[in-house]
Amino acid sequence: MNDKIKYTAEILLKSNSTIAYTGAGISVESGIPPFRGDNGLWNKYDPNVLDLDQFYSHPHESWKVIKEIFYDFFGNAKPNAAHYGLADLEKKGLLHAIVTQNIDNLHTDAGSKEVYEFHGNSRMLVCTTCLKHFVASEKMNEDIPVCDQCGKVLKPDFIFFGEMIPEIAYRKSVEAARKAKVVIVVGSTGEVYPAAKIPVIARQNGAKIIEINPEESLFTNQITDVFLQGKASEVIPELLIGIKEKL
Ligand code: APR
Repeated sequence: MNDKIKYTAEILLKSNSTIAYTGAGISVESGIPPFRGDNGLWNKYDPNVLDLDQFYSHPHESWKVIKEIFYDFFGNAKPNAAHYGLADLEKKGLLHAIVTQNIDNLHTDAGSKEVYEFHGNSRMLVCTTCLKHFVASEKMNEDIPVCDQCGKVLKPDFIFFGEMIPEIAYRKSVEAARKAKVVIVVGSTGEVYPAAKIPVIARQNGAKIIEINPEESLFTNQITDVFLQGKASEVIPELLIGIKEKL
């Protein structure tokens, strides 16, 4: 057990207010590629597919790519050891909330209860005219999913570029960041705002930042106190072992 893991386990055991901030990297080992980096989705697809005007002006093309990216491949992704590890920390009373940029629902699937989805969730579709919600998997047989109430094109219930962050998720995330004594930052480049503000707000309020990532991010040399270099599905289980040894 390396000293950094032991030190982090001690920090987590002493903290009465710990949150996790997760990005696409925590779901890489569930088979969901990240957006940036070597096999990033934005190397293969045009991010404009998530531009709202483009979506409404070319629903057919947009929905074809959106289905391919978010539903055909990743719709059946399962949580990995990192998601289960964070759910376990919550059960032990050592993690109080997760702020995630991810729309894959894998934290909830792994059993985490307090999850703030900063960018929404791909499991539901929404009609932006009558605000009716639909289960995405029940609409995937439609070429362009439409609302059964008003006939308008449905959009996935996650935010497109330029859209507002869901108000409740935003408020709860900022509140949790202000109160946090420790933030475990997992699998994020720190490039996407306003999400990347969350660990910064916590740091400005005196929180210790633990970062888990195989590579350095924009956080690493700015706010990170302990950098645990490695894959989330390897480092988080090691942390849990370190905690068990100290209990
Ligand atoms: N374990 C931990 N981290 C990993 C792993 C892994 N196994 N594999 C890759 N990473 C790290 C990469 O090093 C990188 O820092 O995950 C990060 C993935 O970067 P991004 O895909 O940019 O993810 P993120 O920073 O969360 O930004 C995602 O961008 O397009 C927007 O809204 C979209 O929520 C999405 C956001």
